[in-house]
Amino acid sequence: MTFRAMILGAAAGGGLPQWNCGCENCNLARAGQIPAQTQSSLAVTGNGIDWAILNASPDIRAQMAAAPPLHPTDLRALSLSSVLVTNGDIDHVAGLLTLREMQPFTLFATRGIHEVIDENPIFNAVNREVVPRRTVTLDAPTEIAPGLTATLFAVPGKVPLYLEGDEVQTDLIGEQTVGVELRAGGQTAYYIPGCALLNDDLRARLKGASTLFFDGTLWADDEMVQQGLGQKTGKRMGHMSMSGPDGSLAAFEGLDIGRKVYVHMNNTNPVLRPASPERAEAEARGWIIGQDGMEITL
Ligand code: MLT
Ligand code: MN
Ligand code: ZN
Repeated sequence: MTFRAMILGAAAGGGLPQWNCGCENCNLARAGQIPAQTQSSLAVTGNGIDWAILNASPDIRAQMAAAPPLHPTDLRALSLSSVLVTNGDIDHVAGLLTLREMQPFTLFATRGIHEVIDENPIFNAVNREVVPRRTVTLDAPTEIAPGLTATLFAVPGKVPLYLEGDEVQTDLIGEQTVGVELRAGGQTAYYIPGCALLNDDLRARLKGASTLFFDGTLWADDEMVQQGLGQKTGKRMGHMSMSGPDGSLAAFEGLDIGRKVYVHMNNTNPVLRPASPERAEAEARGWIIGQDGMEITL
């Protein structure tokens, strides 16, 4: 019971509803007919007391207000040990600006992700004297909260949208997109909110895992195009979709993973409608559709 995770935000960048989106899901969420979801973040504790937040979403203020274990325990005391970010995307770092109130915690990321944050002077508002920026080496276990260890590993992905040049490699392997192996009390769980491809390395690593939180951005690679919302496919965004022969539903079949939980779902994804056939299919194939406030004992 002490090693557990709380989904602070189950949606991808934009959230559900997204401010400027009139798609079916966003309209249903605005009308209160399906649950709204905030942007991508997971809180984890290894001892039931001290917490790490994985990814600082632009919704972090409301997410923390809605999560009693993350409330202040004294005038200016919190059980928040650290924030760890898995890439430099806006939905995963913009929330750092909310955490600028001279409150101590440690900011963990790879060197490559720290460089992106360091290069942007607005993040100087998060005072380094109070919030040390610690570099995590890939594949080296690091304690991110008392009793909780994180090991970062490269997963195929791309640089943040705001750093894209003319040519974009969407399945780069390096420090810009990472997954997290979480370990406490002999138990292990994985958090991979963005992943372009399940390659052999990743397949071998995840085989037999007891719990996995995984990239659920889109149901179909072309769903944003189909819904008239733009030209971008999931592949172009560096996300593998759920359905289809290359999708995560197929890719994880037979990998013997105890609990598979989708997170980072885009507002267009039909699984966000509880009564949709796509959600029924994902659940029948062994997946849990993450949602804000969901707690999972690891
Ligand atoms: C993504 O996950 O693809 C990004 O968060 C997109 C974005 O920056 O809006
Ligand atoms: Mn994202
Ligand atoms: Zn929408």
